Amino acid sequence: MKKRWPMAAILLTLAGGALLASVAVVGQQPGEDLEPNRVGKFMRAKLEHAERLLEGLTTEDFDMLVRESQALVLLSEAAEWQVLETADYAAESSEFRRAADGLKKAARDKNLDAAALRYVDLTLKCVHCHKYVRSVRLANLNDDRRRRDAAE
Ligand code: HEC
Repeated sequence: MKKRWPMAAILLTLAGGALLASVAVVGQQPGEDLEPNRVGKFMRAKLEHAERLLEGLTTEDFDMLVRESQALVLLSEAAEWQVLETADYAAESSEFRRAADGLKKAARDKNLDAAALRYVDLTLKCVHCHKYVRSVRLANLNDDRRRRDAAE
């Protein structure tokens, strides 16, 4: 009994940490600023660029479209972007970069329809990668649970 409690407390803390991590990726918990960490801020910047892309599309501002899609390409190459070191994450990243690059080219060609299509494509890449990241985090969470059950 003396030994069991501290162990249970440690495992609970670990499971809690994993849960927080899996919630963090959803990122849509208004008013629940879990940790204003650097990666979180970095990741949020994507949303601002994406919003400005929509602004650029709706106001036919090609300079803005070039600037914002280029910013997204650069973000995807930064160290902070590499949250997971898996081949799938790398693949999601390069698909995202290709979509952002395509948008930039369409904007340079001043082809608004093509740019709008690329924007939709880019948005799908955001959603797809987030879905993937959540699935990895969930799998890790389940692993933690299994380990905890085995330890009991
Ligand atoms: C290749 C994968 C990938 C792509 C593509 C991607 N993201 Fe993310 N995003 C992440 C990861 C990983 C996190 C979470 C970091 C964490 O919680 O540890 C994240 C977190 C976020 C967050 C939450 C930040 C916070 O904590 O407040 C927002 C908002 C976001 N991304 C927006 C976008 C938008 C908009 C796009 C598309 C323009 C996009 N992301 C594309 C991987 C990606």
